[in-house]
Amino acid sequence: MNQPKTQLKFPKKFLWGAATAAHQVEGNTHNQWTVWELENAKSLAAQSSYHFEELDSWEHSHKEAKDPHNYVSGVGANHFNLYEQDFDLLKKMNMNAFRFSVEWSRIEPQQGAWDVAAVEHYKQYLLELKKRNIEPIVTLFHFTLPVWFSDMGGFSKRSNVRHFVQFAERIVRELGTDVRFVVTINEPDIYATESYRGGHWPPNVRSKWQTWRVMNNLAYAHNQSAKAIHAINRRYKVSIAKNSSYVYAGDDAWLSRMTAAILQYTKDDYFLKKVVKQCDWLGVNYYFSDRVYGYRVHNPDQRLSDLGWDLSPENIQYALERLHEKYQLPMIITENGIADSQDTQRQWWITQTLLAMQKAMANGVKLEGYLHWSLLDNFEWDKGKWPRFGLAAVDYKTGQRTLRSSAIWFGKIIKYIREQK
Ligand code: BGC
Repeated sequence: MNQPKTQLKFPKKFLWGAATAAHQVEGNTHNQWTVWELENAKSLAAQSSYHFEELDSWEHSHKEAKDPHNYVSGVGANHFNLYEQDFDLLKKMNMNAFRFSVEWSRIEPQQGAWDVAAVEHYKQYLLELKKRNIEPIVTLFHFTLPVWFSDMGGFSKRSNVRHFVQFAERIVRELGTDVRFVVTINEPDIYATESYRGGHWPPNVRSKWQTWRVMNNLAYAHNQSAKAIHAINRRYKVSIAKNSSYVYAGDDAWLSRMTAAILQYTKDDYFLKKVVKQCDWLGVNYYFSDRVYGYRVHNPDQRLSDLGWDLSPENIQYALERLHEKYQLPMIITENGIADSQDTQRQWWITQTLLAMQKAMANGVKLEGYLHWSLLDNFEWDKGKWPRFGLAAVDYKTGQRTLRSSAIWFGKIIKYIREQK
């Protein structure tokens, strides 16, 4: 087996797993994205060359990326029906944890109308995880909203937050105490900036003021739902999943250092400071770093993912150490991964990440788990289905899953780590 050279040692109870989100893998969801996708598929397909044709990986992705069907989630990976088979993949990789989201639009399709069958589905889903001794980590809001909620203004209105809090409280009660880890909100500032600042995601707003409001309302939503969940039972471990890039100055210039500090604060700490008191742990999603020269981000770009993201997996060490120093909470890496359709870089990415995690832990970081993004190839929002983040490749025509070689290798590494004395 091709093992990393350094000895890997992790605590016995460490959570090793993968992550998904309902809309990205379940198929046939009906939420604020569904109609938007149909309306925007053609123009997204037409713009794809402009954004990606310079990349080496384009030769492998261009066919799918230029096809409007790529931008419609549709049946997707059909995880809603094939979840048992997908949980077997987790077992095959010797994993003991799985992060997923419950789809609010299925559970409460009309305001106040609770769909019993949908709740039953997720109960059964949890049961199948339990049978396999897999620890569930449940996300309550991963970018998708019921249409009725988004029609009333979604998280842009403070008075709407109570609907989410009610949902959070009720679904956690329904799912019962087999769940311990709850993520209320996934990547709050990515949601706010993509949907309300950049205008790339529904509802396509471009307003600094609205972005700021949504961020604050999401912080409020987290705090209120964490309180409601703790009131059910104090044993629930509640957090958010915070995208955290590591921002650093590329040189010693005062301007570079200042810009890096301001960027890091606005990207991470502005939001975290508002919610940290209501977090029992911290979920960290890490994909990239930002190297700053002067007032600009200028990354090394020595290795790129299929999406053109600069690959600096080793910097997760500094991201974790910084968050540890500031917030002193136990952490779980709730997402980390790479769009790599040819699977030529994933094994390297994971190796570098594991080594960096070890270094961070040696420096005092209380790290309790690693959840790879993603278990399956999935619907990557406004990029659609062409970016391949899965440990398992999905054939969208047949629904067939195939573990990539990096995933088979990773499974062996996990086994080796977990069996160490
Ligand atoms: C999100 C996922 C997404 C992944 C890769 C994160 O921003 O939580 O939904 O698929 O990154 O872009």
